[in-house]
Amino acid sequence: MHNGTTITQFIIEEQRRVAGATGDFTSLLNDIVTACKVISNMVNHGALVGVLGSAESENVQGETQKKLDVLSNEVFLQSNEWAGHLAAMASEEMDDIYPIPARYPRGKYLLTFDPLDGSSNIDVNVSVGTIFSILRRDDAATDPSERDFLQPGTRQVAAGYALYGPSTMMVLTTGNGVNGFTLDQNIGEFILTHPNMTIPTDTREFAINASNMRFWEAPVKRYVQECLDGKEGPRGEDFNMRWIASMVAEVHRILTRGGIFMYPMDSKMQAKGQGGKLRLLYEANPMSFIVEQAGGASITGTERIMDLQPESLHQRVPVILGSKNEVERVQGYHQAG
Ligand code: AHG
Ligand code: MN
Ligand code: MN
Repeated sequence: MHNGTTITQFIIEEQRRVAGATGDFTSLLNDIVTACKVISNMVNHGALVGVLGSAESENVQGETQKKLDVLSNEVFLQSNEWAGHLAAMASEEMDDIYPIPARYPRGKYLLTFDPLDGSSNIDVNVSVGTIFSILRRDDAATDPSERDFLQPGTRQVAAGYALYGPSTMMVLTTGNGVNGFTLDQNIGEFILTHPNMTIPTDTREFAINASNMRFWEAPVKRYVQECLDGKEGPRGEDFNMRWIASMVAEVHRILTRGGIFMYPMDSKMQAKGQGGKLRLLYEANPMSFIVEQAGGASITGTERIMDLQPESLHQRVPVILGSKNEVERVQGYHQAG
């Protein structure tokens, strides 16, 4: 039996401290929580409910969509379009923004999301997640447009992720630290289990897709080589490596025990004119907000990610995040040339 703080209670109590809060934001977060519970239920049932496998379609980024990518996107739209808190939504799985249909009232917030992160893990029953970010829209008079979404990460009102792992968790920041909640399947509520999550400043664990090594930029090659050299190398210590191929799961590990995660710029992406692998508005920015709020750092290599001025909805950026001292070391290697 749980007698803990539910996520709803936590959000309401947190909003009470904000002068002039109308309850709109609390209600929006509740709808997002509901959407994540529905996705969690689908992911848990997997093959039993026929949700695994390919949807035989492509998204705007030319990636083959999985059935769960498409279904999770629909769940998010349905759960969040009706209540009147949002003006528009944007997602990895939709080419353009989704203005709230005229049959519903429109509100002052914007929602971006990656409905299913780590899609390549779905069919093999490895952890996946959902990432979201909430922005405010200042101009309520005109129809929402893509331009409304092009705000730097520093202007996020809230960000979070749901992790569908051995247990389902929700990790959330509203700019006042990071808190983690675990879904109690029996009562259908997220309960506060990880208050005030913080990332250890130092780490001996790194995460990177090493199959891209020959394409990496020089500072990243140098950093990883020094980790691999271990005790005998310039760092004088052995390092451990992990790669789950699901950013949500990697960030969650880093929030739990520290670490550094890198999806850096590489020559293969450069040749294709791509700015990186991960998307700024619904992957890099929300994760950077969470990581910074937990005491970590998040950069492209040279710049703080949350300071970037977005140029387009599906813009990609290099991401290096996690334990502060290691991220700063990689930044130093970039500055050294
Ligand atoms: P998505 O499934 O939403 O497209 O995102 C996958 C991302 C990220 O979660 C993960 O870190 C990375 O892509 C995995 O990349 P590799 O396929 O290179 O391992
Ligand atoms: Mn993703
Ligand atoms: Mn995705």
